[in-house]
Amino acid sequence: MNAAKDFPRPGRPDGKASGETNDRARASMLRVDQAGEFGATRIYAGQLAVMGDRHPDARLIAGMAAQEERHRKTFDAMIVQRGVRPTMLTPFWNVAGFALGAVTAAIGPRAAMACTAAIETEIDLHYAEQLKQLGQDDPELSAAIADFQADEVEHRDAALAHGAEQAPAYPLLSGAIRLGCRAAIALSKRI
Ligand SMILES: [Fe+2]
Ligand SMILES: [Fe+2]
Repeated sequence: MNAAKDFPRPGRPDGKASGETNDRARASMLRVDQAGEFGATRIYAGQLAVMGDRHPDARLIAGMAAQEERHRKTFDAMIVQRGVRPTMLTPFWNVAGFALGAVTAAIGPRAAMACTAAIETEIDLHYAEQLKQLGQDDPELSAAIADFQADEVEHRDAALAHGAEQAPAYPLLSGAIRLGCRAAIALSKRI
């Protein structure tokens, strides 16, 4: 498959080592990242729909949601610019993300934080893996990922500081959400 026109590729006059990616791999990375950031906005929308804006944690969640919106917009623009096909699972992530946010917030604020901590733990690992694979292959994509990864780590730490680990059945809840997140990543890379 020749998708070279999707990725006008700058040379590497700096002579730095390349990563492990080809055009198709980078399209897949962008696809999964756009899906993930979209899902993140839906999770926080679900949490805020249940919690309303009077709970003390609502302001924190709204702040994180605004950052997810920035991440999503950036990847949306890159998908269009590069002619990458978005995941066909968008309608599913729309509903599943919102449901995950709503259900965890209905269990309680700490479960909502446990959800954020679990998701962001996986996303931090996912972005770190992508950055490693990219090397110097795609500075624009790497810069966006590194920028957003820093936000996700902040979200994870804020969630832990707001009682994530005191959520009911935390190890089970956290493990299930992390597993679901990894499955979502695996699916969105390909579908
Ligand atoms: Fe994000
Ligand atoms: Fe996040």
